[in-house]
Amino acid sequence: MLKSVKSRLTVLFLAVMAILLGLFCGSLYLWVRRTLDRRLDQELLLQTQLFQEHYLSQQDKSGARLAADLETGLAPTGSKAYVARADGEVLYATQGRVLPTDRKHFRLRIDGADYRGRASRVRTARGEVAIAVAVSEAEMQGQLREVLLYFAIFVPVMLLLSWIAGLLFVGRTLHPLERIRRQAEQISRTSLAERVPEPEVGTEFKRLARTFNEMLERLERAFEDLQNFAADAAHELRTPLANLRAELETSLQSPQPVSDPVLSSLAEEIDRMNRIVTDLLTLAKLDLRQYALRRERVCLAPIVAEVCETWQPMAAERKIDLGVGDCAEAAIDGDPVALRRVLMNLTENAVKYNREGGRVTLSLRGGNGSVTLEIADTGPGIPPEHLPLLFRRFYRVDKARSRETGGAGLGLAICKSFVEAHEGKIEVASEVGKGTTFTVTLPAAG
Ligand SMILES: Nc1ncnc2c1ncn2[C@@H]1O[C@H](COP(=O)(O)OP(=O)(O)O)[C@@H](O)[C@H]1O
Ligand SMILES: [Mg+2]
Repeated sequence: MLKSVKSRLTVLFLAVMAILLGLFCGSLYLWVRRTLDRRLDQELLLQTQLFQEHYLSQQDKSGARLAADLETGLAPTGSKAYVARADGEVLYATQGRVLPTDRKHFRLRIDGADYRGRASRVRTARGEVAIAVAVSEAEMQGQLREVLLYFAIFVPVMLLLSWIAGLLFVGRTLHPLERIRRQAEQISRTSLAERVPEPEVGTEFKRLARTFNEMLERLERAFEDLQNFAADAAHELRTPLANLRAELETSLQSPQPVSDPVLSSLAEEIDRMNRIVTDLLTLAKLDLRQYALRRERVCLAPIVAEVCETWQPMAAERKIDLGVGDCAEAAIDGDPVALRRVLMNLTENAVKYNREGGRVTLSLRGGNGSVTLEIADTGPGIPPEHLPLLFRRFYRVDKARSRETGGAGLGLAICKSFVEAHEGKIEVASEVGKGTTFTVTLPAAG
């Protein structure tokens, strides 16, 4: 019951309407009753004065004539009157009814009808008399009943109309939501490119549709990445496999036994595949958060020095000046193996994708609760359109040339995953013809 927003809003609308109507009708009824009440009081006062005057002008008449006269005077008003002397002698009583004279205002029931009256003392030539006059409340009560009857018809009709209006209004307001829902129902993995319509009115619904579409966009991209990733992985593994097969076939067809160079070439291809598969496994484990990252205090300066030393021979071969610039005493909480891997990959890239006689500088800076590692080279740089895609898996700027140098394009993806697993970030800045700088920022050890 009342599970849907539509019925909830409608009931709420109806409840508010009922309260407002109740307040309106209640206050109107009270106001009408007060007005009628006052009018009846004025009427009573007038009737009392008229009767007193009438009585005073007729008091000399004999009992029976006086009564008949007074009766005729009162008949058209329907009021009752009573006159008594202080000693209790009744001088006049309409239809023989005794009215109270001991209090100024009184109420009583006569023949099942309500009356209200006033009593007063009047001096006459024959001494003081008490005069009481009562007027019927029947007309006032009748009018009040009419007002109530009107409300009894008016309120349900108004509530019914508000209910219908509420249903229509809420239905119309929620219509865009239903459209978004219907469209969203249609979206499946094969139609991720579809978007839900953005309604023209209703900022909230527009925002909802936009957020939903943005989410679809991200999903679509992630799905695309996943598909590309599978295709790229298959492609990358197929090349070394094809090479292996070709070399094996040639060896099988040749009558000579398999030579050492052929065997070492085969081993090289197997190494290549092994590297790709190991890298893929590392990435998959990081994605699934199954990579057991150690958390310990790691001083970065020795790692920087060690990495520099590792790549020194390759740098020397290409006459590249590889060295350490700033080297602050900085430590972080993390996994030393993962961090060494990050630095190794970035330094390898800086040396590999450099020009002969270039320079590679590693710097380590600390401060403001973070540690910054910078690997700057004087290589050919990376064109700006490649920069946003650089950290994607299997992404290489120059596919042909990189294949020669041996990478599959997973190095930077692994760096990014490792750095993010340490709550850090990795950025790249590059200028074509001048060089590239990778910056890794990590939270400093607490
Ligand atoms: N320092 C650099 N200077 C120029 N290009 C770079 C640099 N580092 C990386 N790249 C480009 O980014 C691509 C991806 O790098 P990476 O993920 O390490 O893959 P790999 O080194 O296996 O090719 C490289 O193929 C290269 O084109
Ligand atoms: Mg690399």
